[in-house]
Amino acid sequence: MRIGLAGAGRIGARHAAALYDVPEVESLVIADADPGRARDLAARLPAPDRVTALDTVEGLFSAGLDGLIVAAATDAHADLVDRAVRARISVFCEKPLAADLDGTFQVVRAAAGADVPVQVGFQRRFDAGNAAAREALASGRLGWLHTVRSSSFDPAPPPAEYVPSSGGLFRDCVIHDLDLIRFVTGREVVRVMAAGANRGDDFFREYGDIDTGSALLILDDGTLGQVAATRYNAAGYDARLELFGSKDSVITGLDDRTPVTALPEQGEAPRAAYSGFMERFSDAYDAELQAFVDLVAGRRANPCPPEEALEAFYLAEACELSMRQGRIVGIEEVRR
Ligand SMILES: NC(=O)c1ccc[n+]([C@@H]2O[C@H](COP(=O)([O-])OP(=O)(O)OC[C@H]3O[C@@H](n4cnc5c(N)ncnc54)[C@H](O)[C@@H]3O)[C@@H](O)[C@H]2O)c1
Repeated sequence: MRIGLAGAGRIGARHAAALYDVPEVESLVIADADPGRARDLAARLPAPDRVTALDTVEGLFSAGLDGLIVAAATDAHADLVDRAVRARISVFCEKPLAADLDGTFQVVRAAAGADVPVQVGFQRRFDAGNAAAREALASGRLGWLHTVRSSSFDPAPPPAEYVPSSGGLFRDCVIHDLDLIRFVTGREVVRVMAAGANRGDDFFREYGDIDTGSALLILDDGTLGQVAATRYNAAGYDARLELFGSKDSVITGLDDRTPVTALPEQGEAPRAAYSGFMERFSDAYDAELQAFVDLVAGRRANPCPPEEALEAFYLAEACELSMRQGRIVGIEEVRR
């Protein structure tokens, strides 16, 4: 297979390295709005005969690709996906599909009219713990859920220049928690009440964003959900899903690298905490890209189509509105 990569930043570099380990991927074609970044990434990869760096992003659409990984800045996703499916190239697009609802719809429409698949990069669906939690709930072992909690605590903020095109904390980060809660419970969220805070660097406030956010979710079967995210959790990266049921409770992401200290302290030094999402979800990123290769080869169904990402985006949009207006928001208010 010949796979393209649009966007040679943080996650693009990680995806490129993972694709190298997939035997079916014979060659990789990299492009970035900044051609120097594409060249630098290509130079860092082993086996130079398997990688080409292009001078233009446009060149990707005539490079004879079997699949394209869209890992560019969020505000570039919609256009790149649109162009790829028109060129009949299967697409893996990083979350979120776009920074706003219009862009998200553009992708959903483009994918609906295409004869190639578009897979969205919600890698937490591929985390072994999250998959087991979904099974535990579906099997009846947990009984009925009274509470589901999901959290995403980054140890340090992204570079300031990442923020303006990211869509903001709810659409950029909390969207993982929102997708995961839908995926694991199989239920829909009907109302949200969200709040945000700015206690860290000024650039978040200056770009109209927050650095910490929380939301209470009401699911259609009466389960209550809570999501929480921050850019400032210096203890380490902490992404957890907690399901509390009438019969039993389970947690994913809780191990000897979870960056919390139980008090009173037990004396034994904990192992180094997860340094970031790349490390915590390393296996999940590999698994989602293998799934994309399988999808391109026609061996599996699409594990995360754009309609699923649209549903998560509605929830993020509702959280944003709730935070701005300080009130409970029904999902039908943002649904189109
Ligand atoms: N699934 C996850 O856990 C996860 C983690 C990190 C980032 N992401 C997503 O991946 C995307 C990229 O994030 P990042 O952290 O790598 O950002 P980044 O800023 O490190 O990299 C983005 C790259 O995109 C390039 N770019 C911008 N416009 C482009 C265009 N039109 N065509 C090609 N390249 C273009 C930039 O020059 C930059 O090199 C974002 O949408 C983000 O939400 C997902």
